[in-house]
Amino acid sequence: MAPKFSRARVMVTGGSGFIGSHLCERLLANGDDVLCVDNFYTGRRQNIEHLLSNSRFEVLRHDITHPLYVEVDEIYNLACPASPIHYQFDPVQTLKTSVHGSINMLGLAKRIKAKIFQASTSEVYGDPTVHPQPESYWGNVNPLGRRACYDEGKRAAETLFFDYHRQHAVRIKIARIFNTYGPRMLPNDGRVVSNFIVQALKGEDITIYGDGMQTRAFCYVDDLLDGWQRLMDHTPDDFTGPVNIGNPVETPVRHLAEKVIEMVGGRSKLVFQALPVDDPMQRCPDISLAREKLKWEPKVALEAGLSRTIAYFDGILKSNKEVGRVGR
Ligand SMILES: NC(=O)c1ccc[n+]([C@@H]2O[C@H](COP(=O)([O-])OP(=O)(O)OC[C@H]3O[C@@H](n4cnc5c(N)ncnc54)[C@H](O)[C@@H]3O)[C@@H](O)[C@H]2O)c1
Repeated sequence: MAPKFSRARVMVTGGSGFIGSHLCERLLANGDDVLCVDNFYTGRRQNIEHLLSNSRFEVLRHDITHPLYVEVDEIYNLACPASPIHYQFDPVQTLKTSVHGSINMLGLAKRIKAKIFQASTSEVYGDPTVHPQPESYWGNVNPLGRRACYDEGKRAAETLFFDYHRQHAVRIKIARIFNTYGPRMLPNDGRVVSNFIVQALKGEDITIYGDGMQTRAFCYVDDLLDGWQRLMDHTPDDFTGPVNIGNPVETPVRHLAEKVIEMVGGRSKLVFQALPVDDPMQRCPDISLAREKLKWEPKVALEAGLSRTIAYFDGILKSNKEVGRVGR
């Protein structure tokens, strides 16, 4: 893909998290100046320490539920805990991060005329009754359940993005992200890929919730960021999204566990526990819009992405680094 026309000053909220740190790396490689803004709730200094010596990289410890005044050309709004364990730990703060945080970032974008990207989620579809999910599907979210602080927060954030766009002509881009995995996920955050890999590497049994036949579609982080870059840098301002960015290859959770055990080569067995309330049974993106408008589709096969992710966790576990702490 051709690089974008000019260098920009780019702010990444949530920049020390799993996806945010890969995004900061990629923006710096593109020649941009990057301001990483994070309250380090689930983000980690280790994720960005290799970037600190770059003179075009800055870090600001800040919670986006409070206003921020900076001068940038583009904003990527990723700040929000993404795994159920973390977003349910302080649900009010999760909702505030999506709602107050979006209002603060959109207000800033309006004032400084910055283009702004929102990391939305497939969770806006809730427990879908339509498969695969196109962007036109309005979703099936339980607004009162324990996942609602995240799902409804992200839905409200999309509403705010569209209202700022219609009312104040803010240039917006919204990507709905489906399960993404790769190096720098937290090992203890309860997401299936990291959970299974860490359990297998430790030789522990692998916990599956439900019968394991519920499906997820796993996208490798590099593929995800290719899609974001196309959306942000190579679409006209009147293409706002939302656009699904995910891998349409549906994998039953049980098959993922078996694949991880095979690749790690351990003796882990599968153990089954009750499915959490509101856990979706099927999740698969319809990526026709991304194919058409972004000329994008994922390229990294599950096995290749898993192998890079397993190597990362293997290194972490061997070096005994502290990776599990969460807290502001
Ligand atoms: N990983 C996925 O599969 C996935 C799927 C759908 C959507 N997303 C979205 O992508 C974004 C990044 O997800 P991730 O997987 O990298 O998660 P992550 O938890 O690793 O990253 C989130 C980052 O946001 C920071 N943060 C949280 N609340 C904040 C606040 N109030 N102010 C400032 N910083 C704050 C955290 O410290 C962390 O660095 C999130 O918005 C998430 O909802 C991710």
